[in-house]
Amino acid sequence: VTYFQMTEILTPEANGLARAAAFLRGGELVAFPTETVYGLGGDATNGRACAGIFAAKGRPSFNPLIVHVPDLAAAQEYAVIEGPLLRLAQAFWPGPVTIVAPLRAGHGLSDLVSAGLPSVALRVPAHPLAQALLRETGRPLAAPSANPSGQISPTTAAHVYAGLNGKIAAILDGGACAVGLESTILGGDPVRLMRAGGLAVEEVEAQLGHALPEDTTPGKIQAPGQLSSHYAPDAPVSLNITDRHAGRTLIGFGEIMGDLTLSESGDLVEAASRLFGALHTADALGLPIDVAPIPNVGLGRAINDRLTRAAAPRS
Ligand code: TXA
Ligand code: MG
Repeated sequence: VTYFQMTEILTPEANGLARAAAFLRGGELVAFPTETVYGLGGDATNGRACAGIFAAKGRPSFNPLIVHVPDLAAAQEYAVIEGPLLRLAQAFWPGPVTIVAPLRAGHGLSDLVSAGLPSVALRVPAHPLAQALLRETGRPLAAPSANPSGQISPTTAAHVYAGLNGKIAAILDGGACAVGLESTILGGDPVRLMRAGGLAVEEVEAQLGHALPEDTTPGKIQAPGQLSSHYAPDAPVSLNITDRHAGRTLIGFGEIMGDLTLSESGDLVEAASRLFGALHTADALGLPIDVAPIPNVGLGRAINDRLTRAAAPRS
């Protein structure tokens, strides 16, 4: 692994895209924006790059990586996507959805990507810079969220810099992520929900025409947070708090006005886009964090999943 004095911040204007692609083709690591969160990208066909991703994040090597590709045809080079998963890919790609499907024979991905599983997680991001980077690099990009393992996911280049400066070659700055929650992960036939995320479960169910069972098989690799403490700020987090208390930071929602408020109008899409930024900001204040109740529908389900993990006892 190469350790850099300082991580470069690249912008698309100043030839940043070409430089980011050159770093990636050379096996270096570059964080890039997607519509969900920033990803910590490396060439998924390069074992040294993939090993570097685990090292930079401090990520346990049994936790497999998501591979980003520009379109469904590219995804089919690495996995066999068929049946209901194919229909979901056609309906929701590009977008905030990851599909776990069997590896295709001769796939060419580094073994580190799948962490020994017979399947691989694939995603076609909609963000124009992510699309441009994938096409310019010409390689599938393994990219977990660009944060140290167990910490809050990054939704701005500044969040990435705060967590990974000196550990990766560069950050491609594309501004704030519009969705703000990691992708919804779907896999299996019948299709199961492996992680609630940036696409509401109700939309998936409407497309499938039936309810989506959640994958809760004990001991199986689950999307992220088989480790129950995850997305954790340094400060302790308490949930379902309806009043402000001295010496604590309240993150509000709807009627409940906080020091920071996720959405005054009670809009869950807006709340999702602000969630991780609010946790980063609240954490910097150094006080314990209280969070108002969030309705458990639509993106509220993924918001509550992340908040529950942020509030879980630390081991
Ligand atoms: O929105 C996102 O999904 C972001 C952006 C950068 O694409 N990425 C992201 O990656 O959240 P990460 O590594 O933080 O979470 C990926 C999750 C992991 O928890 C992993 O366990 C799961 O996907 N995963 C990867 N491959 C899998 C597989 N073959 N079977 C089951 N779960 C898998
Ligand atoms: Mg993550």
